[in-house]
Amino acid sequence: MDRSPLYIDTTTAVQRLKSGGVVAFPTETVYGLGADARRSDAVRRIYATKGRPSSNPLIVHLPSLKKVHEYADISRSFDPVVVSSWLEKLQHLWPGPLSVILPRGAELAPEVSAGGDSVAFRIPAHPVARELLTAFDGPIAAPSANRSEYVSPTRAEHVLSDLGGYLSVEHDGIISGGECPVGIESAVLSLLDATPRILRPGSITHEQLEKVLGCAVAIGAQGASTREPQTFLSPGLLAKHYAPHTRVQFLTDIHPSNQLPARVGAILFSDRPLPFEPHTVIVLSPDSNLEVVAAGLFAALRELDSEGLDLILVDSCEATGLGAAIMDRLRRASFR
Ligand code: TXA
Ligand code: MG
Repeated sequence: MDRSPLYIDTTTAVQRLKSGGVVAFPTETVYGLGADARRSDAVRRIYATKGRPSSNPLIVHLPSLKKVHEYADISRSFDPVVVSSWLEKLQHLWPGPLSVILPRGAELAPEVSAGGDSVAFRIPAHPVARELLTAFDGPIAAPSANRSEYVSPTRAEHVLSDLGGYLSVEHDGIISGGECPVGIESAVLSLLDATPRILRPGSITHEQLEKVLGCAVAIGAQGASTREPQTFLSPGLLAKHYAPHTRVQFLTDIHPSNQLPARVGAILFSDRPLPFEPHTVIVLSPDSNLEVVAAGLFAALRELDSEGLDLILVDSCEATGLGAAIMDRLRRASFR
């Protein structure tokens, strides 16, 4: 593969972030497109680079819980003592693929909240992300590093192909760090109300969150918050999201009598024969290991999307545990 001049090392990335540039970097979930979360000009460049609607808020990445206390304003929580004790308990899951929503502290650019008053915070576990956060020594706002509404990137090449044309070789860059091991975006947990609420399922499951917090955790964006207007609850939970350009359908929705189009691709969660002959088949895991399925899912959707197919057929799994997050992403990919 030829090296793009956009690929930079961590030291250069820190300089670019300090000058207000945007830098893509690997996390354990997906690649993020980062900027200094204290600078409005830098944060606005994230929205412009992604083509992201200014109504969809960003996740702020930090190296430790201590920093979350610095950049969130827990005193404006519905109950600062309860929220602080939840954050203490969540140390069992952090660093890791979990983002929590808290009231925004005064130092962060208002643009990270997209017109609201709250911010999602995440402490990533990926060594490159941690190295970057430590060296930069500040909050990094970073949504997934794809063009808005497309599939999240799990490899540096995905970022380059989506955003290469929108990044400046002098001011921005991409840190290449191999494949993201988890493969789907973090779980998003709102701590704005007395009942914690999962706004986006992830590899950290509902069961794990209830166990660690020791209380009931609600699921879904309905009727959750009295502090934010309904439309703002989770803008990223718009039905259509993470979608390839090619039509995606679940294999379970195809009936034997259906006439399939000429060029069909299939993404399977286990190795088995199909009752038809697809143009391309990707078996994500020979034995339905859902962690392996999640790790390869987005790369498979991107690969089939580049083949000029008429239809991508995907497997499904039970929507519990990690399967809930996988099915959430696939339902969005297949929505039309
Ligand atoms: O794993 C991840 O979370 C990756 C890596 C880079 O950290 N980031 C990521 O960011 O997936 P993004 O922007 O693609 O997704 C963030 C989600 C969106 O659905 C957004 O609407 C929601 O979190 N979100 C962010 N801040 C929020 C807030 N204050 N209130 C409600 N939802 C929020
Ligand atoms: Mg995204």
